[in-house]
Amino acid sequence: MALWGGRFQSGSSDMFKQVNDSLPFDQVMASQDIRGSIVWSRAIAKAGVLTSDEQQQLEQALNELLAKAEAGELDFASSPEEDIHSFVEAALTDKLGDIARKLHTGRSRNDQVATDFRLWVREHCEQLLNDLQQLRASLVNTAKRNEQVILPGYTHLQRAQPVRFPHWCLAYVEMFKRDISRLEDLTQRLNQCPLGSGALAGTTYPIDRQEIAEQLGFASPCVNSLDAVSDRDYVLELLFVASTSMMHMSRMAEDLIFFNSGESGFIRLGDHVTSGSSLMPQKKNPDALELMRGKCGRVFGSLQGLLVTMKGLPLAYNKDMQEDKEGAFDAVNQWHICLVIASEVVDSIELDSERCAQAAKEGYANATELADYLVGKGVPFRTAHDISGQVVLAALAAGKPIEDLSVQELQQFSALIDEDVYPVLQLEYLVDKRNILGGTGAQPVKAALEHELAAIAALSS
Ligand code: ARG
Repeated sequence: MALWGGRFQSGSSDMFKQVNDSLPFDQVMASQDIRGSIVWSRAIAKAGVLTSDEQQQLEQALNELLAKAEAGELDFASSPEEDIHSFVEAALTDKLGDIARKLHTGRSRNDQVATDFRLWVREHCEQLLNDLQQLRASLVNTAKRNEQVILPGYTHLQRAQPVRFPHWCLAYVEMFKRDISRLEDLTQRLNQCPLGSGALAGTTYPIDRQEIAEQLGFASPCVNSLDAVSDRDYVLELLFVASTSMMHMSRMAEDLIFFNSGESGFIRLGDHVTSGSSLMPQKKNPDALELMRGKCGRVFGSLQGLLVTMKGLPLAYNKDMQEDKEGAFDAVNQWHICLVIASEVVDSIELDSERCAQAAKEGYANATELADYLVGKGVPFRTAHDISGQVVLAALAAGKPIEDLSVQELQQFSALIDEDVYPVLQLEYLVDKRNILGGTGAQPVKAALEHELAAIAALSS
């Protein structure tokens, strides 16, 4: 039963129905739609449109529908209805007849869908916040389990300077914490209620919009009806946060894929988050990580898609906006799956600390230290950098690390180099010299880790 049949002399073509119907995907907002309808029935009863007996019958039937929706018992597949709003109204009409036909008084699907979608986004943000906190906890706990491990840090994917493994973990923790704060921030901003804005210009019935907003858990009503029914920036914000967070996860995945490669051999991943090859029995592939990286494409695509959909639309509602949903539903689902699997992968990490340390020592990571050592003896940094570079060249030619060159060999490059250079060239020394806020030295890393451990303990208590 279309909600708009009266003015039409013939029905829709099959193809029009296919392009127009949104029930196949907006059915996921059934619970939000029903809850919105319950609150609406109360509002119009107060405005004198329904008797209190009619309102009670509606509310009871809606509550029954809600229970079915939450139990996954609504049959959408065989329904001819156009969208979730028509579906709910049809189900009510089957049950209550004419009383149900009063429910849409003063309301439009335009303010209805805007309300449903805001509720849906708000509720999914709660789940995603939990997922992000879980991943944060996994990173912090994995850092704690491997507190003493040192591995190479990279720039340009060339070994640059060694870092503590917890420092690497906590770098991603900082990124995910910002994703959390962005998500919290957007849930504040979207928390205004469109219901009561009508099709575009507001409703003529004397409803209490403040009360409607409160009953649906919104902080306040939207203040402009045109804006309320036609903006989707809360979806765009969600997609932006999803994209940014997926990008963070993808970079983390890329690091871990590299750490897990035969060439690096720094980490091992659990069997439960890897897969094998149908041909090569020896393979154990980091598929979960590759999919985290791969799924960025569709999530970024949803953000781009909705921006393009919205950009040329005149006020107020246009059917183009029905295209706001599938990409967002998919992005949220993929983001959720990736956050959960990322947390499982991180929990499964086992480090080969020897191999990490060995790699951190290779690659002349202590060349900067040698330069700083010379600076300590009064050599200008630029000259010291040059001398250290020449030492690296000679060590490379000899196939040795710098610390395996003798004092005599080193003195050929600067007479200022002495026995006291060797402690300076040790791995722990060069890491722990970075004892500065934000650095990878033992002290600041320990402090940052303690801080995060306390924060996640506070969250779970
Ligand atoms: N299914 C529609 C959507 O998602 C609901 C709103 C329909 N409004 C209308 N004026 N046809 O946007």
